[in-house]
Amino acid sequence: MDITKGVKIVDKKMLLYVLGLVPLWLVWRWYRERERVDNKGQKYVYITGCDTGFGNLLAKHLDQLGFRVIAGCYTEKGEDELKKSASDKLTTVHLDVSDSASVSKAADYIKTLVGQKGLWAVVNNAGISVPSGPTDWLTIDDYKLMLSVNLCGVIDVTLSVLPLIKMARGRVVNVASVFGRITPFGGPYCVSKYGVEGFNDSLRLNMKPFGVKVACIEPGFFKTHVTDVVVMENGLKKLWDRLPQEVKDDYGQSFLELSMVQLSQRFRLLTDGNLMKVVGCMEHAISAVHPRLRYSPGWDAKFVWLPLSYMPTRFTDSLFLIGLPKPNCAV
Ligand SMILES: NC(=O)c1ccc[n+]([C@@H]2O[C@H](COP(=O)([O-])OP(=O)(O)OC[C@H]3O[C@@H](n4cnc5c(N)ncnc54)[C@H](OP(=O)(O)O)[C@@H]3O)[C@@H](O)[C@H]2O)c1
Repeated sequence: MDITKGVKIVDKKMLLYVLGLVPLWLVWRWYRERERVDNKGQKYVYITGCDTGFGNLLAKHLDQLGFRVIAGCYTEKGEDELKKSASDKLTTVHLDVSDSASVSKAADYIKTLVGQKGLWAVVNNAGISVPSGPTDWLTIDDYKLMLSVNLCGVIDVTLSVLPLIKMARGRVVNVASVFGRITPFGGPYCVSKYGVEGFNDSLRLNMKPFGVKVACIEPGFFKTHVTDVVVMENGLKKLWDRLPQEVKDDYGQSFLELSMVQLSQRFRLLTDGNLMKVVGCMEHAISAVHPRLRYSPGWDAKFVWLPLSYMPTRFTDSLFLIGLPKPNCAV
């Protein structure tokens, strides 16, 4: 008897069994993930960066679902506008996540508000995306500025309310980015988001024994202030204007002009206007009985950036450099 033939038949059968299990597993996961927590009206959710974008939409969405939302707003205007468009169950609090005094003042207020119930969830959403540009156009202060909001802000806010979250056996939801998994451009943004991923993963392990669930949201490109082309272009221009002449000579004026054109073309092509894709994931992380550990909303995150993040670095480097403007003195 030909043994290799027998092995091939067994292999085919095995493959069919495995392929048959995939849809079964998807149905089981879909069913399991549908279940939601009860008593929403008794559950407090603290969200940072609620003036605009995902945070603003999430605050209104959770308010409609019946959660007790504590919306951290950076500006008075943000607070006023949010109050007008939400129920009177929603509370706002002034919050600058980069300022420890502001973070602990907000935490004191939340402590008195939630009492013995504790805090059901904190969503670390506040973030900034400028200054961004080639690494040698930036200073250490540019890095510190972004890290103080995008990374230290996340850590500070989490620590400030963690005892309340442990009390409620609640959740921490960290908004990182798919650019915490792969780095296609320079500057502090990816650095800050890789940091959030690391913080998220260590917190998830450490909080498991306390029954606290930790989830990470890793969106692709969406249309918000963070990806606003005009803001990004102005930021880049500002960096260029303050560069010493020898660095300007290294790059050349045409590098700046081409970078601006590409930035605008790529952002317009890639950004998705449906913010509910992200907000839906945030809501699931807060309200599902069995939330996921990671969510990657956006077609570009799922089909471009995440697959690329598993590819060899030499390959992705070459890919990212295709068509990019070249500095004057490139070798
Ligand atoms: N949009 C995307 O494509 C995308 C992709 C991946 C990840 N993200 C992340 O998603 C999160 C939300 O961003 P978004 O896209 O919704 O943009 P957004 O509309 O700019 O939201 C960010 C919010 O954070 C607030 N904020 C800025 N500095 C703050 C500070 N020091 N303290 C407290 N709040 C502060 C902003 O207030 P002001 O508006 O008053 O400045 C704004 O309301 C960010 O962490 C971002 O990195 C966004």
